[in-house]
Amino acid sequence: AENETWLLLFPICINAIMSVSAYYLTVHLIPRIKSMFVKANLYGIDMSKRTSDKVPEAIGVVTGCVFLIIMFLFIPVPFTNHILRNENFPYDKLVEFLAALLSICCMLLLGFADDVLDLRWRHKLLLPTIASLPLLMVYYINFNSTVIIIPKPLRPWFGFSLDLWILYYVYMGMLAVFCTNAINILAGINGLEVGQSLIIATSILIFNVIELSGSQWKAHQFSIYFMLPYIATSLALFKFNWYPSQVFVGDTFCYLSGMTFAVVGIIGHFSKTTLLFFIPQIINFLYSVLQLFHFVPCPRHRLPKYNKETDKLEPSTTVFYKSELNTIGRLLMWILKTFKLVKLQEDRKGVVTCNNLTLINFILINTGPLKESTLTTILLIIQIISSILAFIIRYPLASIFYDV
Ligand code: UD1
Ligand code: MG
Repeated sequence: AENETWLLLFPICINAIMSVSAYYLTVHLIPRIKSMFVKANLYGIDMSKRTSDKVPEAIGVVTGCVFLIIMFLFIPVPFTNHILRNENFPYDKLVEFLAALLSICCMLLLGFADDVLDLRWRHKLLLPTIASLPLLMVYYINFNSTVIIIPKPLRPWFGFSLDLWILYYVYMGMLAVFCTNAINILAGINGLEVGQSLIIATSILIFNVIELSGSQWKAHQFSIYFMLPYIATSLALFKFNWYPSQVFVGDTFCYLSGMTFAVVGIIGHFSKTTLLFFIPQIINFLYSVLQLFHFVPCPRHRLPKYNKETDKLEPSTTVFYKSELNTIGRLLMWILKTFKLVKLQEDRKGVVTCNNLTLINFILINTGPLKESTLTTILLIIQIISSILAFIIRYPLASIFYDV
């Protein structure tokens, strides 16, 4: 038992020490490297400021690289025991580790390509699917468990469990697509992308720590190896991305984050719990559906509109003819209007002005204009409350649906 505690804690401690140094390395690196990004034409204009300075963009690639370096250096640590004794090397565990890193690394590259080349929407869906393939392959050879346990109330119809077979792989591929894009579209105000990712990562970490005492401790230990350096490097980025932003994180960071969460969820066998920590992102996605699938025009940027006079943010809008909408569009719009989920104005010619359908604008139509930092804070508080809710669903409530 003593040996087991050692096996449990030793790699985590080493990982924690490496993560602390990763934090300081990133904090040191970002200010020194950011002018290189502007020189390489990698910058954006902060649309919610009076000035129009060039803000370095895609700094997620810096944190991502530090994260990967730390992970590469860490690879031998969990295997120290086997290396020293030179026996029964757990190749399956090593393969899991390497595939997870390959998928994350791939996503970092693809995210950076997106920042440099400004890819189309269909690529944004395709890239994470492809980056998750190595992972699915490892899942196939190491687990290949595609059986799901049916919640108690549904058992009379479906039985105790259901083998989803290939559908389970489709689900895992879609998880990667969802996690990466969901963070990217809840964005556009200083500190929000990193802030939400940090809260999700911390929630996953807390969940892993709780589960360390359970029978699946190895899977949760694996996830902690990824979460600690991820949190450390992102925290350093947060320092520079918080209002007023000195750097932008770019799609690189959103993709890297989403993929990291999907990877630990899939390899650690807790993908449903991972999704529970995405409640605000799921709501934002559902709310966005009308625009994402072009029932209603979707402008290139949906971030709130900045009012120079008041230095506050107001809801941004999309304008269209009522007659442009097809039947589904009209129905969905009617539902949103009936439940007072949108702010609509229609003039006599049938021109409709509607707020862009994001959670950020939804808050603004309810609160009125807000300072940018206040708006980010509100959204991050919502993220924290959602995580608390997720834990309530995961622990006390789950016993109603499953024998836990
Ligand atoms: C996604 C959103 C888009 C939103 C954008 C903001 C969808 C479908 N896409 O697009 O509506 O406007 O993110 O990131 O919902 N920026 C700021 N302040 C910030 C962060 C970003 O002004 O705090 C601006 C900068 O000009 C920056 C640009 O947003 O250059 C980055 O946008 P990008 O990440 O390329 O947009 P998408 O991810 O394609
Ligand atoms: Mg983006």
